[in-house]
Amino acid sequence: MTVSTAPDLLTDAQLADYAKLILKVTGIRVSPQKKMLLSNRIRRRLKATDIESFGDYYQQLCKLSVDDHEWDMFLQEITTHETYLFRDEVHWDWFRDSFLPEISLAAIQGKRKKELRIWSAACSTGDEACTIACCIADRLQNSAKWKIEILGTDIGVDAVKKASESLFGERAMRLVPENYRSRFFKRQDQDDLWAANPELKHWMKFRQHNLLDRLMVSPFDLIFLKNVLIYFDPDAKKTTAAHLCRLLKPGGILVTSAAENVSEHLTSLQRLAPWRHRNPEAPNTRDAKKGGTR
Ligand SMILES: C[S@@+](CC[C@H](N)C(=O)[O-])C[C@H]1O[C@@H](n2cnc3c(N)ncnc32)[C@H](O)[C@@H]1O
Repeated sequence: MTVSTAPDLLTDAQLADYAKLILKVTGIRVSPQKKMLLSNRIRRRLKATDIESFGDYYQQLCKLSVDDHEWDMFLQEITTHETYLFRDEVHWDWFRDSFLPEISLAAIQGKRKKELRIWSAACSTGDEACTIACCIADRLQNSAKWKIEILGTDIGVDAVKKASESLFGERAMRLVPENYRSRFFKRQDQDDLWAANPELKHWMKFRQHNLLDRLMVSPFDLIFLKNVLIYFDPDAKKTTAAHLCRLLKPGGILVTSAAENVSEHLTSLQRLAPWRHRNPEAPNTRDAKKGGTR
């Protein structure tokens, strides 16, 4: 058996090296106060990989490509994946009671196509994407006739894999209304998990993506960006905000959590609420006059 000789704590120089590397790869800022926490997290990877010192593990990470499995394991240690369905009630009340009825009506009146593209950015295990799908199934009239795409992305490969399974434990389900549970989920008797119905799964796709990179896809009607930028360095916040703004359709809406503190980087958007911003419609276009959402 290999006995780990790793020291208890990172030295200040090692902490600075790791912090720089984490910032470069993820945009996440590690403060000096996190020395103990980071030391403990890295020590778990030393044990798992049989690498003896913080310095050797750092060298190993530098050599590996960021999509290597060990990087994913490391990222799992240093990022928080906390998420649950129907997190932040005010967002879902708006989505269910205003946004979806408005676009339903606009489609019935022939003012917009029956198409809806939504991005759950930094989706963790997919709880937010699944909440979006539940609300659509409940409130978008004639949803079967719509082309609906809900894309969930996260830097964590393991998180994305779990998101694709769309299985949720009791804790993640605690805010799901009772009638939604029975309509949109099936209880898996053996392991106390709830499986999202195929109707919801059909709309959801998940893929790995780093918010610091541009996502090369067509623009979205709605983007949810919640509980991730809170951990980012100001420059990384700015870069991410610029990428996201570029991926909003004219009239498209960005929903952020209060903790994101990103509004200073959303100056190209109209502020509808502290947590809701809209990409202005292109002036004088036919669509701009019709079917806009608030
Ligand atoms: C706290 S969870 C938020 C999940 C969900 N948005 C919510 O609000 O419930 C934060 C997620 O951000 C992801 N993340 C951290 N840095 C990222 C980056 N640079 N690019 C993409 N995702 C990132 C983490 O892997 C983690 O799953």
